[in-house]
Amino acid sequence: MIPARERSDMPGAFTVEAEGVVAVVRFDLPGEAVNTLSPDVGAEFDAVLRRLERDETVRAVVLLSGKKDSFVAGARLELMQQVKSAVEGEALSRTAQAGFDRLERFRKPVLAAIHGACLGGGLEWALACHWRIATDDPRTRLGVPEVQLGLIPGAGGTQRLPRLVGIAAALDLILGGRPVKARKALKLGLVDEVVPPPLLRDHAVRRAHELATGVLRREHPAGLKKLRKDGLSAVQQAALEENSVGRELLFRQARKKVLEKSRGHYPAPEKAIEAVRHGYEKGFSQGLEREAQLFGELSVSPVAKRLMELFFAQNALKKDTGVDDPAVKPRPVERVGVLGGGLMGAGIACVTTAAGLPVRLREKDDAGVGRALAGVRGVLEERVRRRALDRLDRDAQLRLLTATTGWAGFERLDLVVEAVFEDLGLKQEMLRAFEAVNPAGVFASNTSSIPIREIASASRHPETVLGMHYFSPVHKMPLLEVIAAARTAPEAIATAVAVGKRQGKTVIVVNDGPGFYTSRVLAPYLNEAAHLLLEGARVEELDRALTEFGFPVGPITLLDEVGADVAYKAAKVLHAAFGDRMAAPEPLQALVRQGRLGRKARKGFYTYDGKKKEVDPAAYDLLPGGRGRKDLDRALMAERVSLQLVNEAIRCLGEGILRSPRDGDVGAVFGLGFPPFLGGPFRYADALGAPTLLELLKRLRDRHGARFEPAPLLVELARLGRTFYS
Ligand code: NAI
Repeated sequence: MIPARERSDMPGAFTVEAEGVVAVVRFDLPGEAVNTLSPDVGAEFDAVLRRLERDETVRAVVLLSGKKDSFVAGARLELMQQVKSAVEGEALSRTAQAGFDRLERFRKPVLAAIHGACLGGGLEWALACHWRIATDDPRTRLGVPEVQLGLIPGAGGTQRLPRLVGIAAALDLILGGRPVKARKALKLGLVDEVVPPPLLRDHAVRRAHELATGVLRREHPAGLKKLRKDGLSAVQQAALEENSVGRELLFRQARKKVLEKSRGHYPAPEKAIEAVRHGYEKGFSQGLEREAQLFGELSVSPVAKRLMELFFAQNALKKDTGVDDPAVKPRPVERVGVLGGGLMGAGIACVTTAAGLPVRLREKDDAGVGRALAGVRGVLEERVRRRALDRLDRDAQLRLLTATTGWAGFERLDLVVEAVFEDLGLKQEMLRAFEAVNPAGVFASNTSSIPIREIASASRHPETVLGMHYFSPVHKMPLLEVIAAARTAPEAIATAVAVGKRQGKTVIVVNDGPGFYTSRVLAPYLNEAAHLLLEGARVEELDRALTEFGFPVGPITLLDEVGADVAYKAAKVLHAAFGDRMAAPEPLQALVRQGRLGRKARKGFYTYDGKKKEVDPAAYDLLPGGRGRKDLDRALMAERVSLQLVNEAIRCLGEGILRSPRDGDVGAVFGLGFPPFLGGPFRYADALGAPTLLELLKRLRDRHGARFEPAPLLVELARLGRTFYS
């Protein structure tokens, strides 16, 4: 018998405590914030199991995590970065599979007591246990997000999951990659019970005891017995899944859906379907074989590499304070102000109250206040409808928000984010008025293109002025671009970065300049699309060219979303700053003159009146050639438009606007929708190779003009034979 609360004699990740005949194994990876799985951890766990197997006094095992609000985050991804060949990747998968196989065949019942994130390999671990209990805490989420990293579950997940919850539900979990909360997991049959967090340990020990003594028997997986919500009754669903024709239909439908979404750029979801299907055709162990092979293939695929690099870049940014000097600390921020409660201001107020911070919002008049409050409420209501937020939290957020037309209360704020109209004079007026009541507060502008130093020139304390550039819709877009002007104090930068992280954003810090980074690279991208329209391209073909390339929407759809007036204003700023290569083609001005501003005006290049978004032929009347359009090659259109963005990004790095290629990649992917499977403009440039990219740009320059002049840094890299990341 192990004495109660004795530490195991094994160094490392596991401690064992005895509760009568139940051994409670606590997983707590030393020195890490979360638990991750690796062959080393697996070997250590095996040794623990072997000992518990031999120990006659132990009749059941409870597995739980020693980390706060986190069970197991998944496999240790750094391992995947070291994988050099498909064979190595396959071997990693087989090792994990074998470990979980031994766990599943363990003679004594093993219960997983899950609180916090239970993801990827963590869920596969729990699936190999004999009973699963989860807490009803919102932080408890179960899922297999591997496809989001270009992989598939490779530790038996593609085999155990469908057998536990049914094929359709398993494919939903695997292909979507989105985790579910405990209640949903219970409904699916993914866990057997849900309890409040304080009861988890004791309840698990009691259940373990009951399972050990035979008082409780393992029921058959509940998944298929539950009534499904998607229209099929449980019986229909089971009938579908239990015969090969029905299964075939399911797999075919899933594949079709996957291809529609991935446009063939992301291989992992298709491979996941193949692994599940193989297991049903050839049996469990053959299914595992196939899973390991496919996992191995994917682990060295360029797509997985790019997606994992992005994941690591985001993680690195989480730890980045935004300034180089480690001695610089952010100011404590307890109250935030927002100036202007339009589209952006309302969104910023939402993400700030969501972080638990009180917000004081200022609008120009009562009508503005009313619109702003309705805007915030609208966003929150939509989140409640989609069950992303519960009513209590919505009410709590609304209680944190107050709005005014004056400056009362602004003297107590630590930081204010300005989101009034894009007008230098107005922004400077806001800055002066804020400083008059609060000289020490940090003033951040959400301008999309005006250089921060121009706004700050109206300030008596330019060290407190910077940019916090959010993206629309603010509550959905993951990126925040913090802009440091030459005179901005490091403390102000660190403060803005810290607030951005609290708002749940991935934050990059860039240096000041017209358009900073994201707006600056977007301008030539949109301009090139406009050039193509001048040359006769069809709107829908041009949009399709870029969505086929991998962007979530095409440039003309994006232009309609941004608004032609907003784009035109930004284009003018950038044209003035960078000269003719940034000149916006004429039609943009014509659009603005005609009030064809895009979605918000219900007409742009598309019309938004009917149910379906359709190209408005009348918009062609503004273009040379009118409604007579030409068939231009989609691949060439995509090349021209995307390379404008890539080349400008390289200029930004060369000029010191960007701190690193990493920030440029993260900014383009999470702020602008640059295709994640390409990893961002710099990873893409590296994959093409500097000499190839240089040649492409020179060819385009010779054909279309100086706006394709290669960035000096690219010329330099090509000469030195280097890459951006080397
Ligand atoms: P908007 O027109 O929806 O909102 C501006 C708000 O400012 C209006 O509600 C207006 O009543 C208010 N306002 C005007 N004068 C004011 C004053 N003196 N005091 C208080 N409030 C005042 O514009 P939107 O789209 O929210 O843009 C705001 C800022 O954010 C602009 O600088 C824009 O360039 C920038 N931005 C916009 C993005 C977008 O996608 N719309 C993306 C990123 C930045």
